[in-house]
Amino acid sequence: MIFICGIIAYIGDKNASDIVINGLKKLEYRGYDSWGIAVKSNPSLAIEKQVGKISDFHALDSLPRGCVAMGHTRWATNGSVTKENAHPHTCCKGEVAVVHNGIIENFQELKQQLAHHNFISETDTEIIAHIIEDNLKAGMSFETAVKNAITRLEGRFAIVALSNSSDKVVAARKGSPLVIGVGKDEYYVASDIPAFLEYTNDVVFMEDGDVAVISPGQGIAYTDFHGGKVSRSPTKISWSIEQASLNGYEHYMLKEIMEQRDTLAQAIVQDDAKVKKIAEMINSAHGTFFIGCGTAGKVGTVGSYVFSKVAKKHVNAVVGSEFPSYHDFLTKDTLLVCISQSGETADTLEAIEVAKKKGCKVVSIVNVMGSTMMRMSDEYLLCNSGPEKAVCSTKATTAQMAILTLLAYACAGRLDEGRRLLASVASKVNVMLDDKYTEEIAFLATKIAAHESMYIIGRGLNYPIALEGAIKMQEVPYIHAEGFAGGELKHGPIALIQEGTPCIALVANDDVKKEILINALEVRSRGGFIIGIAPQDNDIFDFWIPVPDLSIASPIVNIIPIQLLSYYTAVEKECDPDKPRNLAKSVTVK
Ligand code: AGP
Repeated sequence: MIFICGIIAYIGDKNASDIVINGLKKLEYRGYDSWGIAVKSNPSLAIEKQVGKISDFHALDSLPRGCVAMGHTRWATNGSVTKENAHPHTCCKGEVAVVHNGIIENFQELKQQLAHHNFISETDTEIIAHIIEDNLKAGMSFETAVKNAITRLEGRFAIVALSNSSDKVVAARKGSPLVIGVGKDEYYVASDIPAFLEYTNDVVFMEDGDVAVISPGQGIAYTDFHGGKVSRSPTKISWSIEQASLNGYEHYMLKEIMEQRDTLAQAIVQDDAKVKKIAEMINSAHGTFFIGCGTAGKVGTVGSYVFSKVAKKHVNAVVGSEFPSYHDFLTKDTLLVCISQSGETADTLEAIEVAKKKGCKVVSIVNVMGSTMMRMSDEYLLCNSGPEKAVCSTKATTAQMAILTLLAYACAGRLDEGRRLLASVASKVNVMLDDKYTEEIAFLATKIAAHESMYIIGRGLNYPIALEGAIKMQEVPYIHAEGFAGGELKHGPIALIQEGTPCIALVANDDVKKEILINALEVRSRGGFIIGIAPQDNDIFDFWIPVPDLSIASPIVNIIPIQLLSYYTAVEKECDPDKPRNLAKSVTVK
């Protein structure tokens, strides 16, 4: 079983189940196959589990009142979605409950050692509850029983455990994110900050190897897995509840696309000294890799083109899962620039782990403050985009592209020029995203929704945008979209063009404009319906989507109309834009 899930626990004096259910709804972007909640209600633990999205459930009258509860929303890539497999998992007598995000690699081996227990689920998580149960039987305190159990686990995990025999709630982290919200005499443990943001901004980012033991009314004690004391203190985070809620929009995806009116300007609010320092690291490295997965991987490829043009520097853009093929080339002079919205993507984190062992330096460009990636890096730049909750990345993507562009200018010793260009991008996007613009794209979406497939072509800087545009059209409206380099069409893909096949042509005012227009014409001559994303209209286009003329920054503006097209096509097809099927926001397992 592999899980990418959301955890929330509450310890305080409010009705815990209300807070946990509310928190689970906020975390649903992390997983939405099934959910469950455990409430501590003396003398027993009350447990409720369901298959489906928690947002589809309105009342949960079955749960008792209590001041301590924890919940879990699950996304399974492997194994069945059943009530039995939903968390929390309990020991045989139902006296210990555990929620877990991650994967226990030695699960089969441990399960054999626990053959005397009655297993209800197929999950790896259930073994944790049974080990704790054995430890309690052997006379350990609950706190020690949990600590002992986690020392036996191999793999990545974030867990929270409760028992009806103890007041304490124990949380532990190794490789999967876990944060603690600190309120006034109340505490929240969660996979991500939005779960409790409406209650507190004071956040402790648990480190790998940390255990937090929370005692109602007494506070939190942090130790390592073996009981050695560690010191952790809260950081005040600047995200607001408005940023983390729908704020009048029907979906987070549209809200986040429209927020690009502000987030591009926020992305370039970076400390000049830090930007110059990172530029110097890139300039002096012998071999720089831009690493990311999915959309972040495409951003890395955009970055490699921008660096080539602006900084005259070759960098290797590699997707995280393919990076093992490059391990042999890593030396202490290699630099990794890791790109990630969540800062928790397992394949990218693994690239960092390997690179660090080889003595490489690591820089990250991440949106989530306090994320694992940020903390593993020698230097980092934050995207400043606020929480991105739709599974489909939009505002973090353009922020990452803006930051890489800024770094390219810094590497060329022209940071001020880069800043001016990006400030102009930010203000032009602000003007571009008006009602008329979105209405026209919503109209185009009504046409696209009728097609099963479509193509996107670009050249040079906009070739990776063709690839990223295809991801947008695949993951939300489920269109079979493919992105190609314009020049590659005649080597195969043009055979797919039929009468009316939609094809987006990304036509920037740059050195490849003539060539991409010729490619668009080749598609049109074979019956293709050409949607031109360009600063100027052209006779070749059947439908023109105007974008500001921004030379080297054209990838940043060109992806935005495709994000909108993806959103409106999904709405037209009645697909849920925020929770696309089979996907989860943070891919925290390999
Ligand atoms: C984006 O729309 C996708 N959902 C996905 O490709 C995502 O970009 C990828 O999983 C990487 O996530 P990260 O940026 O959090 O590392």
